[in-house]
Amino acid sequence: MLRDLIAKNRSYRRFHQDVAVDEDTLRELVDLARLSASAGNRQALKFFLSADPEKNARIFPLIGLAGSPGEAEAPTAYIVILGDTTISRSFGCDHGIAAQSILLGAAEKGLGGCMVGMVQRKKLSQVLGIPKHYEILLLLAIGKPKEKAVIEPLGEDGVTSGWWDDAGIRHVPKRSLDELIVG
Ligand SMILES: Cc1cc2nc3c(=O)[nH]c(=O)nc-3n(C[C@H](O)[C@H](O)[C@H](O)COP(=O)(O)O)c2cc1C
Repeated sequence: MLRDLIAKNRSYRRFHQDVAVDEDTLRELVDLARLSASAGNRQALKFFLSADPEKNARIFPLIGLAGSPGEAEAPTAYIVILGDTTISRSFGCDHGIAAQSILLGAAEKGLGGCMVGMVQRKKLSQVLGIPKHYEILLLLAIGKPKEKAVIEPLGEDGVTSGWWDDAGIRHVPKRSLDELIVG
């Protein structure tokens, strides 16, 4: 069921190093983004793929992954979502839609990942040789998750940030449905 897949599709930031994600898998995931909606059907997103340890090692120091223990559990693949400024000057929420399609596809394959907005964009463009007419919009870190995550109701303190328990399980508080529906 779609609901189960969405529930499984948590943000994962710790990954098995012995499970590689190949470039064909990344291409299949980008194909899901290709079929997704875009403003005016302009399809102005482009994608930079990395499934190669040497390229991955250049990307990892330039992103912020909350609670990541470092390189020992780093992502084994990345998709950098780019806006092609020769097609459009604004990208609306296209990259969010693409990111969700890709990560749901990853979850369906038993993989997982995290949307990453904390990116040193200028440096990343430089180290990957991304041409200037591509704007880095969002990065997806991908791999075989090495952590578990559970959704739970938001506590009375109203704190929305997730936390890890002693067993390494990440607890992700979510507001109730009634709180979201305003009319
Ligand atoms: C647009 C966007 C940007 C995000 N950027 C980061 C980020 O830079 N680093 C990070 O560790 N998590 C990032 N996240 C993941 C959120 O922290 C995560 O979605 C949130 O904690 C809820 O957890 P869940 O995805 O498991 O529901 C981002 C999520 C979104 C939607």
